[in-house]
Amino acid sequence: MQKMIIQGGNRLSGEVTIGGAKNSTVALIPAAILADTPVQFDTVPDILDVHNLMIILESMNVKSEFNHGVLDIDPTQIVEAELPSKAIKSLRASYYFMGALLGRFHRATLTFPGGDNIGPRPIDLHIKAFETLGATVSEVNGTVHLEAANGLHGARIFMDMVSVGATINAILAAVRAEGTTVIENAAREPEIIDLATFLNNMGAKIRGAGTDTIRITGVDTLQSMNTHTIIADRIESGTYLALAAALGDGVMIHNVIPEHLESFTSKMIEMGVDLQIDSDKIYVPKTTSFKPIHVKTMPFPGFATDLQQPLTPLMSLADGDSVVVDTIYPKRVKHVPELQKMGMNIEADDTTGTIVIKHTDKLHGANVSAGEIRCGAALTIAGLMAEGTTVITNAGNILRGYDRIVWKLNRLNANVTIEDDSSVKIG
Ligand code: UD1
Repeated sequence: MQKMIIQGGNRLSGEVTIGGAKNSTVALIPAAILADTPVQFDTVPDILDVHNLMIILESMNVKSEFNHGVLDIDPTQIVEAELPSKAIKSLRASYYFMGALLGRFHRATLTFPGGDNIGPRPIDLHIKAFETLGATVSEVNGTVHLEAANGLHGARIFMDMVSVGATINAILAAVRAEGTTVIENAAREPEIIDLATFLNNMGAKIRGAGTDTIRITGVDTLQSMNTHTIIADRIESGTYLALAAALGDGVMIHNVIPEHLESFTSKMIEMGVDLQIDSDKIYVPKTTSFKPIHVKTMPFPGFATDLQQPLTPLMSLADGDSVVVDTIYPKRVKHVPELQKMGMNIEADDTTGTIVIKHTDKLHGANVSAGEIRCGAALTIAGLMAEGTTVITNAGNILRGYDRIVWKLNRLNANVTIEDDSSVKIG
């Protein structure tokens, strides 16, 4: 068990550089097994999810090496194998091996994925997509078996709901299928464009990524010619923006794609933060008073569900009631009782996904638990704002998704340590 220990109250200043997007990376690594050549990724975040995906690759005799943000993967000696269930269960995105293995071997067997506990997260749309492409899918005691005995064939897939994961899995299965697949009501997240860019640069024919209709014509082989640089993490960017506004005396955030963050930055501007937005960096000036806001989470380009929790501590500084409605995951309220322990004036109704955040004069340190990644981000920011010491248990959930977070925060003048019993470098 890892604990994050925060001595709160320091003002923050300086510069921070955002890493590659976690949600791209966790799709790109499984996608690498579709290649017939070694592949290389750059600006890979140093997060536990990457290390767990490398363990899964190893089990298939896919060698990988991770050094200073560069990840080399050699899938040329890949073999079919039983995938390690502990690593599969450590993150939800391990389900991308379903689509990738179907694409590569026309069959796959793996345990149900784990990942953040943010309420019910079914995979019916993924299964429907695989079946539409010609696979049969069965589940026995938590193990999913997929098989396309007659190969995968292009088809029209209509997504009943907009789903990032199901759109990505459908692309992975279709990219080497015979014929043309059309995904309608596809998710439009930037991470999907990043995946399509990586695959297209290897010879795939994917058109329309970033719109709600994606057309994929299957190809026989995928061959990597150059390094793929992963896009900047918009959720990490939003987290540092919120942190800098709450506690900063002037913070410059580098390697940001402002176009991916407009729904978020527009809310911060509405709160009264005079953000100075450049082409690839954002300066957050010292801000002392904040207006309350209303936020409703939506699929991209709407306000990301992953950012409602990191924005919560800043909302508690506003001079009135702020309201968040999480329409994507109404049960994503794990941060609420933990923030109450720190003195925050906050209430949640998890039937409607509505959270009301009232003005709070002062937070105090407490022992709290990071139930999931973004809950952990909210607690980290609150701990930095609070008087005294905050101990966050289950801090592994924070390290799952935030690149070298301890090092980055301390460079901004925070006082954060990790009591660590894992072998993974923290930064
Ligand atoms: C991805 C992100 C996660 C983010 C979420 C929503 C990754 C690795 N994770 O998760 O950080 O919080 O998008 O932006 O990229 N649904 C179904 N059936 C399905 C699939 C989804 O009903 O088969 C529902 C979900 O319960 C949810 C909604 O669709 O209410 C959107 O979920 P989805 O976009 O699939 O989220 P993930 O891909 O799991």
